[in-house]
Amino acid sequence: MTDDIYDHIGNDYTQGRRPDPRWQAALDDVLGQPRTLLNVGAGTGSYEPRDRYVLAVEPSKLMISQRPAAAAPALQASAESLPVADKQFDAAMALVTIHHWQDWRAGLREMQRVARRVIVLHFDPDIHSAFWLVRDYLPTLADVWREVPSVQEVATHLGPGVEVRDLPVPWDCVDGFLPAYWRRPEAYLDPQVRQSMSGLRFLDPDELTQGIEQLRSDLRDGTWRRRNRQLLKADALDVGWRLIAFPT
Ligand SMILES: C[S@@+](CC[C@H](N)C(=O)[O-])C[C@H]1O[C@@H](n2cnc3c(N)ncnc32)[C@H](O)[C@@H]1O
Repeated sequence: MTDDIYDHIGNDYTQGRRPDPRWQAALDDVLGQPRTLLNVGAGTGSYEPRDRYVLAVEPSKLMISQRPAAAAPALQASAESLPVADKQFDAAMALVTIHHWQDWRAGLREMQRVARRVIVLHFDPDIHSAFWLVRDYLPTLADVWREVPSVQEVATHLGPGVEVRDLPVPWDCVDGFLPAYWRRPEAYLDPQVRQSMSGLRFLDPDELTQGIEQLRSDLRDGTWRRRNRQLLKADALDVGWRLIAFPT
């Protein structure tokens, strides 16, 4: 997955991707109270705390241009080469971004060089690929995610003393990433909703259209509901998102 995709798809990013308060609380709990925080792959600043010193690092000019006026200052740079001196920050965080990096190992090494603590929000590609939208309608997304490092690989790379916490997706999640609508399947029929799901850009457009049309048909004739009946009773779903903190 390439790193310049957000210069092409980043338009209107903030419309679909808003911080979910339950995820914000889980992240704040893991973060603790660092006085200084580096946000790597910061995008438009989702989940960035506003009550302490934050510096954002983001390679895409388009994403930087959509950061709110009150957001932290941003440097245009990549994780693999952070323009920051050693141990300058109490903590560095990377949220929903390492799967886009050219070299995630180098990026994490850089974070460990510049900060005393590292927090990563990442997804497990195998669990993500078992999500019904991928499994039943867009199966080649699983091939795209085969290149994504597993949570275990990330944790091992960070080193002993790492903590991994599950981060389930609430049924009414307001952050519009790909599995956010797991209990609201009709949402995937809306092109506006799909706009903020970067993973879909890696699919052949015909395959995407076919998959969405199959979903439409399965919703209409009750197939989706029969196949996913148990989901309709759940309040949150584990689709593989994990908060990884080093050291704990
Ligand atoms: C899904 S967005 C997440 C943005 C933000 N962290 C959030 O949670 O909303 C992924 C971001 O990673 C950035 N990115 C891609 N390659 C990168 C790299 N090599 N180093 C740092 N950031 C990168 C993209 O430009 C994009 O802004």
